[in-house]
Amino acid sequence: MDKSKCFLKKSPFISITPASCIHQPRNLIMSTCASFYGITLSSSSSTFKNLLSSHYPNKIQVNSSPFSFLPSRLSKTSVFNTKRHIVATASTPTALESPPKSSFRDKPPKDINVLVVGSTGYIGNFVVKELVNRGFNVIAVCREKSGIKGKNSKEETLNKLNGANVCFSDVTQLDSLQQSLQNLGVSIDVVVSCLASRSGGVKDSWKIDYEATKNSLLAGRTFGAKHFVLLSAICVQKPLLEFQRAKLKFESELIKEAENDDDFSYSIVRPTAFFKSLGGQVELVKDGKPYVMFGDGKLCACKPISEPDLASFIADCVLSTDKTNQILPIGGPGKALTPLEQGEMLFKLAGKKPNFIKVPIEIMDFAIGVLDFLVKIFPSMEDVAEFGKIGRYYAAESMLVYDPETKEYKAEETPSYGEDTLEDFFKKVLEEGMAGQELGEQIIF
Ligand SMILES: NC(=O)c1ccc[n+]([C@@H]2O[C@H](COP(=O)([O-])OP(=O)(O)OC[C@H]3O[C@@H](n4cnc5c(N)ncnc54)[C@H](OP(=O)(O)O)[C@@H]3O)[C@@H](O)[C@H]2O)c1
Repeated sequence: MDKSKCFLKKSPFISITPASCIHQPRNLIMSTCASFYGITLSSSSSTFKNLLSSHYPNKIQVNSSPFSFLPSRLSKTSVFNTKRHIVATASTPTALESPPKSSFRDKPPKDINVLVVGSTGYIGNFVVKELVNRGFNVIAVCREKSGIKGKNSKEETLNKLNGANVCFSDVTQLDSLQQSLQNLGVSIDVVVSCLASRSGGVKDSWKIDYEATKNSLLAGRTFGAKHFVLLSAICVQKPLLEFQRAKLKFESELIKEAENDDDFSYSIVRPTAFFKSLGGQVELVKDGKPYVMFGDGKLCACKPISEPDLASFIADCVLSTDKTNQILPIGGPGKALTPLEQGEMLFKLAGKKPNFIKVPIEIMDFAIGVLDFLVKIFPSMEDVAEFGKIGRYYAAESMLVYDPETKEYKAEETPSYGEDTLEDFFKKVLEEGMAGQELGEQIIF
């Protein structure tokens, strides 16, 4: 029996708690059967398999698109982009004979099951809150010890994910994840992945940003998922780091999955910088210390986006048909800001005289060269060398839309979303500190 434990909130679509699930008195319903759309299902595994084959959208062709009458060779992307295709194919006799197919998008949010992996992360936690607020039936997958260095207990994790059905499982093990979802006894409509390596190390990046994320796709598909929303990163446009390569490999497989199945779609969200990545010097400046930047402070720029704004954008991707089968770069409101501009803003808000330390970027290049040399002798240092490269990357590369032809970053082509500004964030940190904005285990991002 799988060791995963699931905490289900009351839902009209979930009335099952398998034997392996532990009771959570405040939001649990206990039963030995599962109800889907008025049909009561036994949770015994053989019955479950039979029911899977008759109820799950893998077998029933459920199309999420208003263009469900289109032949499968036309990708949704081409349909949305080319009006001509709609006119040409709408007259196909067989297509017209087919009754319109239903989609999870036709259901009210409370009946849409959204599986969130990476639900305990900086962004994932806000995504869960936003989806719960919008009324979706959220299944949040997490570890029993979650957060940076596993600092959150099970009880704390349950509190943080209040309103969601919490499923303790292991996303790094496909069998375990599949078993947990089978135990839950519900179908999945949409998977949202906010998974990311906590360390950014080489092996962990491949394990989480690629393998575990792929496991969530495979498990989601097994249980009927028709749409996958991926939290990626804008920096994958110019991949020089292992976590970027791992993310890109998954992105390309996700796109392929949608190309091979017209009933399946994706939204790949590539945000610019998060507030937490830019707040590291606020308290130092407040204490009268200088602001440190590389080069002239104009080597890189970004359009920072807050956790609630990004979570809202990601939640939009669950239902919005205009965000399907697309790669969506996204930044926060206002213009792009260089480190120099961020520093100037910070000194002004702190009421301090500007005091900058400009560090030549070549110092990082030298350090990386040394680390690369050492890795050849001591392979165990590969993560240290990788962290150096990550630091170098963020010191010099903009988090904006990149034009590979001109090799330039384009602030004006980087879309804005939301309302929270970096200035307001700096004001808040000056008053309240950085609580809730802790960086990952490697203290880089
Ligand atoms: N920082 C930036 O400025 C920036 C900008 C653009 C894009 N991004 C991208 O945004 C994404 C999310 O970032 P974030 O800051 O929200 O990430 P995060 O806070 O580090 O959260 C990572 C999530 O993945 C889970 N996870 C990691 N390792 C796991 C494992 N071995 N087993 C199970 N779960 C595991 C974590 O669970 P636990 O809580 O159990 O550890 C957590 O839920 C990343 O892909 C990042 O590249 C970041």
